[in-house]
Amino acid sequence: MKKKKIAIVFGTRPEAIKMAPVILELKKHQDEFEPCIIVSAQHREMLDQVLSVFDIKPDHDLDIMKRNQTLSDITSDVLKGIESVFLEEQPDMVLVHGDTTTSFAAALAAYYHQIPIGHVEAGLRTYDKYFPFPEEGNRQLIDAITDLFFVPTETTKQNLLKEGKDEKQIVVTGNTVIDAVHYTKNSTTRHPTLDLMDSKPNQKWILLTSHRRENYGEPMQNIFEAIIDVVNKHPNVEVLLPVHLSPVVQQMARKLLGNHQRIHLIEPLEVDVFHQVMNKAYLVLTDSGGLQEEAPALDKPVLVLRDKTERPEGLETGTLKVIGTKKAHVINEVNELLNNNERYQQMSEAVNPYGDGFASSRIVKEIIRYFE
Ligand code: UD1
Ligand code: UDP
Repeated sequence: MKKKKIAIVFGTRPEAIKMAPVILELKKHQDEFEPCIIVSAQHREMLDQVLSVFDIKPDHDLDIMKRNQTLSDITSDVLKGIESVFLEEQPDMVLVHGDTTTSFAAALAAYYHQIPIGHVEAGLRTYDKYFPFPEEGNRQLIDAITDLFFVPTETTKQNLLKEGKDEKQIVVTGNTVIDAVHYTKNSTTRHPTLDLMDSKPNQKWILLTSHRRENYGEPMQNIFEAIIDVVNKHPNVEVLLPVHLSPVVQQMARKLLGNHQRIHLIEPLEVDVFHQVMNKAYLVLTDSGGLQEEAPALDKPVLVLRDKTERPEGLETGTLKVIGTKKAHVINEVNELLNNNERYQQMSEAVNPYGDGFASSRIVKEIIRYFE
């Protein structure tokens, strides 16, 4: 096989974490592939943190991030910015990930240049175009023009088959985030947050994250007020909230949670430190997608701060529970996990359905097969 140039395009923290293992795997196949790493930098600081942990140096950096960027800003800046890169590099395939606006715009650009598209983490669906927004729209639009679907689970494969996709184009790989968890698990990087947790070993630490656009405003306010209630009622509970750099999240977190002794607002953590923190936490409370997949791999129960999830596998095995964003409901569900040990054990011991740590090697094997 003639050496193929594979463009890997991403722009945000979670895409970087989930694409890094694929890049490392492609690099092991130097006779077959020449990886070309293109970042949009839809996220700047949070992207650079990941690049540094995995020691990845982009070949092209579109550097598009603006404060309070709109979805149209991201879409148009990526679409236009990537054109000259594709013309210069002439990739044989473009790999995009998941459901961000960078991924959608990069896939659209690849389609305009008639370059085959591989979609990593394809097939996730809620079938509600506003939950999550704009991710559900983005991933359906990407899958409309994808040539190779790398789906994480059997359920996601079934979604695509029901939509009429050809089975020959779909391969079940597991989620590459589990590969990333395997990569970081031997990290010995220290951080003040780890020291803080170690200094209070008898406390129950809740790891909280929230950043979704559909939770901006009242839902996020409800979540934060609920957590204050929980902490006030349980002297042995402490909360860690690495605050997403979105100005909307920053403002609300500082306003509502900035003055509580047992609620710790911290900067976004390097992913290897973040995984160590999760490992020490008692439970995870989140609206994040990636955390729903990682936490079960570390035997942590996850209460999902959304009304719907595109990750039903974790509901089936019992490691996730969708609790929405109503204040009273969030309080009750967190209290239940803090007080009911049997329930806690059931959730933490449930099987992780998201992969075995070899997703990237399956993806690369399939790309080889595609070109043969
Ligand atoms: C984006 C993705 C979302 C993904 C999330 C992961 C879209 C539309 N949304 O949402 O699917 O779940 O990333 O975190 O693709 N910011 C900084 N520095 C950073 C990162 C962000 O200042 O390192 C600021 C940006 O300037 C922007 C705001 O945060 O104003 C929001 O970033 P944006 O990428 O637009 O949306 P996210 O909510 O991060
Ligand atoms: N993460 C991180 N540092 C943090 C918080 C999260 O490295 O302070 C990682 C986490 O391990 C997961 C990913 O970021 O892999 C999730 O990203 P995010 O919640 O921003 O996006 P989503 O998964 O919802 O798209």
